[in-house]
Amino acid sequence: MRKKVTVVGGGFVGSTTAQRIVDRGLADVVMTDILEGVPAGKALDLLESTPIIRSDAQTQGISTASGTYEATANSDIIVITAGFPRKPGMSRDDLLRANYDVVKGVVEGVVKFSPNAILIVVTNPMDAMAQSAFKVSGFPKNRVIGMAGVLDSARMSTFIAQELGVSVENVHSFVLGGHGDDMVPLPRYSTVAGISILELLPKERIDAIVTRTRNGGAEIVNLMKTGSAYYAPSAAVLEMIEAILKDKKKILPCAIYLQGEYGIDGLFVGVPVKLGARGAEQIIQIKLTPEEDAALKKSADSVRSLVKVLGV
Ligand code: LAC
Repeated sequence: MRKKVTVVGGGFVGSTTAQRIVDRGLADVVMTDILEGVPAGKALDLLESTPIIRSDAQTQGISTASGTYEATANSDIIVITAGFPRKPGMSRDDLLRANYDVVKGVVEGVVKFSPNAILIVVTNPMDAMAQSAFKVSGFPKNRVIGMAGVLDSARMSTFIAQELGVSVENVHSFVLGGHGDDMVPLPRYSTVAGISILELLPKERIDAIVTRTRNGGAEIVNLMKTGSAYYAPSAAVLEMIEAILKDKKKILPCAIYLQGEYGIDGLFVGVPVKLGARGAEQIIQIKLTPEEDAALKKSADSVRSLVKVLGV
């Protein structure tokens, strides 16, 4: 039987995620949105691309304005992108309360029909939304995963590849912490052909790359004015989906509920996680320097202040 992925939210992140899944023929896709007609239209358009791209993936779009999430039943993965996007000058945290209400409603809707699904949370402020989804769903922690580390690492890899004039395929970057302004890019663990960038770049260039990575989302919001990034975010979601559906046991930076790992307890924070068929199968603990550890704790504190507001 083919796999089934539900993408909640038919905006740019949701629809490009759906497109990437269909392009790869990874799974059938149900796209949902509160708008009438838009999800059905986009899903049909996507379906009509399949003879050309040679994909047997089936698509369906449903509006949840009045209906339920029944069409999403028995999804293997549910990607939650629904919510209000950032506008220029707006921090991810400004979105907190508005998007909590959205995520809560969505999670209550979908988990009834897919009690065994794995949730991938994208809506910002992502770490707090992942924690909200975890609490509202009642799912075990291996089945609620937040997407940001893959995106933030991809941004860092892009900048490193540009700086050194090397293939992006040579670059592995590591970004930990919350998906916020104090995320923690780790130059020490970021490598080019296996060589730490500390060996390859002067400190001021590394510092510039770290700063640009931290501001990567805002840089795009400021350019676009009317929306936020979606090509790289959807590519990041796809990498996670593929790791899960193919049971790849791939280690990727993901937001996950920590219970003492990295000295953080009861909080979603981005750390290296092994993704496979059971979702987040293992948290990989790496040794941090005192400075890196302090930066991770600071980032975790920012997430904690948000979840406290929400009481989740
Ligand atoms: C970004 C927003 C979506 O990082 O958080 O692009």
